[in-house]
Amino acid sequence: MENSFPVISMEKLKGEERGETMELLRDACENCGFFELLNHGISHELMDEVERLTKGHYRQCKEQRFKEFASKALEEGKQSDAANNIDWESTFFLRHLPESNMSEIPDMDDQYRKAMKEFAAEIEKLAERLLDLLCENLGLEKGYLKKAFCGSKGPTFGTKISSYPPCPRPELIKGLRAHTDAGGIILLFQDDRVSGLQLLKDGQWLDVPPLRHSIVVNLGDQLEVITNGKYKSVMHRVLARTDGNRMSIASFYNPGSDAVIFPAPSLLGKEAEKKKSEVYPKFVFEDYMKLYVRHKFQAKEPRFEAMKAFPIRTSQELEPV
Ligand SMILES: [Fe+2]
Repeated sequence: MENSFPVISMEKLKGEERGETMELLRDACENCGFFELLNHGISHELMDEVERLTKGHYRQCKEQRFKEFASKALEEGKQSDAANNIDWESTFFLRHLPESNMSEIPDMDDQYRKAMKEFAAEIEKLAERLLDLLCENLGLEKGYLKKAFCGSKGPTFGTKISSYPPCPRPELIKGLRAHTDAGGIILLFQDDRVSGLQLLKDGQWLDVPPLRHSIVVNLGDQLEVITNGKYKSVMHRVLARTDGNRMSIASFYNPGSDAVIFPAPSLLGKEAEKKKSEVYPKFVFEDYMKLYVRHKFQAKEPRFEAMKAFPIRTSQELEPV
């Protein structure tokens, strides 16, 4: 694949171009770990409403607090290597599944809550539809990936809402340091004017182009494990910029905390069956997360290696978590 960013129109899955489109999706999952979706079925009116309310919420409830953080961060940055431990972002997190925390978020008004609830329901449907398209490309039965994420309480699903305000010293501090995502599949509604998201491909940072009303999708570490490395969880970062306030609404469709994650047996090649070193580990998702939170901004490979040595817990040991 050449170094252009894969853009997939979901409309084409219905017609004569289905085969070609599925092939584009397969190629993106294998070689890029990222793709951008158009005609995904989420109404543009809803997306516009979510964007308007999110930007208004930042100005009303977050901006002042961020300014206080920012002046401290810049001071620290001048004295030490701030790039190692600071992200130039203002965030809050909404959890939808297994149970919603939306009513506990203090500074959201009813209109914003309602719009985010509706948007999250659409994103959840889209995530599950995508998982089944991935199953089809992988030769797994329909529903396999959703089931793999289920655990005892179903998948974990949440949305991280971030703003990346203008930064006077972008050479000093990143918007968000480079990392791979820990979970399953991530669906991002990003600002269509202020770019900054980049992914690492063949040793080079490529821009994820802002595209109005698109949804950017990337695959997390768990899909790399389940596909035994066929699909890739890829390093990405957000650059801080001197101009523009970037909005990012990232929804994470992840395994439940007690889901047991392991490579799908049908995806283990004959070689891998012989060589244990080529088989990805089996573990409980929350054990992976405990490791991830300490090593998020490091390469994924040592995390996978560490999990191979981690004893898998029995279902009795998993209760209650
Ligand atoms: Fe990420």
